[in-house]
Amino acid sequence: MKIPVLDLKPQIAAHRAEIMEALDSVIDATHFVLGPEVAELEKAVASYTGSKHAIGVASGSDALLIALMALGVGSDDAVITTPYTFFATVGAICRLGALPIFVDIRPSSFNIDVDLVAERLKKGCEPDPSSGLLRDKVSGRLVRTMIPVHLYGQCADMNAIMALAQQHNISVVEDAAQALGAQCNGMRAGSIGHIGCLSFYPTKNLGGFGDGGMITTSDDALAEKCRIIRVHGSKPKYYHAIVGINSRLDAIQAAVLRVGLKYLDQWASMRREHARAYTESLKETRDISVPVALPGQHHVFNQYVIRSNRRDALRKFLTDKGIGTEIYYPLPLHMQQCFAHIGHNKGDFPEAERAASESLAIPMFPYLTIEQRTTVTNAIKEFQEG
Ligand SMILES: Cc1ncc(COP(=O)(O)O)c(C=O)c1O
Repeated sequence: MKIPVLDLKPQIAAHRAEIMEALDSVIDATHFVLGPEVAELEKAVASYTGSKHAIGVASGSDALLIALMALGVGSDDAVITTPYTFFATVGAICRLGALPIFVDIRPSSFNIDVDLVAERLKKGCEPDPSSGLLRDKVSGRLVRTMIPVHLYGQCADMNAIMALAQQHNISVVEDAAQALGAQCNGMRAGSIGHIGCLSFYPTKNLGGFGDGGMITTSDDALAEKCRIIRVHGSKPKYYHAIVGINSRLDAIQAAVLRVGLKYLDQWASMRREHARAYTESLKETRDISVPVALPGQHHVFNQYVIRSNRRDALRKFLTDKGIGTEIYYPLPLHMQQCFAHIGHNKGDFPEAERAASESLAIPMFPYLTIEQRTTVTNAIKEFQEG
């Protein structure tokens, strides 16, 4: 690809000396798993997000799993979430024996539609007198957890979500894997719900040199549970009151991420400038929709996703010109084979299905050049208007 959808090389080159120095110090210290390097990163991420605690784990997927485990989610639970997200969001729910309750997205943001959540709670649930919680009428499971996902770098409508959650005693787990640095009404992603989950997968705005993740929360008890769960449930060492998992963050990753965190806002500004320029250039293009940052939202553009009703042909046209693109995501989760037993059909979540057939992520990374950007927008216009 002449212009890849993501090119990490110039970003790494810009900070290589500092990263190598950080890696050298981990090698000299030989404390490779958790330890002081991870603790320093946890402090820095807690302070960056505005959360009291941050807990380093092995991946964003594990962050979700551990957060749900800490909340006690299990086979009596149904968890509200979006069908238009990366698999991990729903994988975590299902691995604990819980049932996902999908609610469609808003086409303007690709994020869960809070009005539809309210409707689902009102029409599909009833109060459970013994617990004071809601119970799903169909499955009979308790509805006390919700996972909004901040897709592509823009938060879900968190004000409305938190108001609804408070009304119904629902714990909110933010899937902020794609949105570190994003803000919703001045609050940073990961600090708005009861617990937040971050991913440091290399494609994320803050990416490591491998897998990594973090949980953020201002709830002392939840934080303590997450810390225990990530080390097989042991506290003190070799004494297990609960069964946890092995999900520890490596010091090598923490060292790389600590360097990156210093530049995260600068990289986000670069992404936002590319997004502004893309939008300026593409907004009048025939049959193309450009992404919008909704009021109150600070979008950090982990992805810049356009929509076209000739998406597949457009993608092929760009590929032939050496321009990388990606489809996040081609098949909504309610239509995945592994969730067939839940019993959904095509047409159940029309906005998610439409997004899956129209969305196309175009090259977006901090060190994209103006020339690359122009090549991308010219090619899109040539296809759409040619
Ligand atoms: C929305 C979302 N949730 C969860 C994850 C899982 O993160 P990880 O790949 O670090 O396990 C990702 C990233 O891949 C993601 O994009």
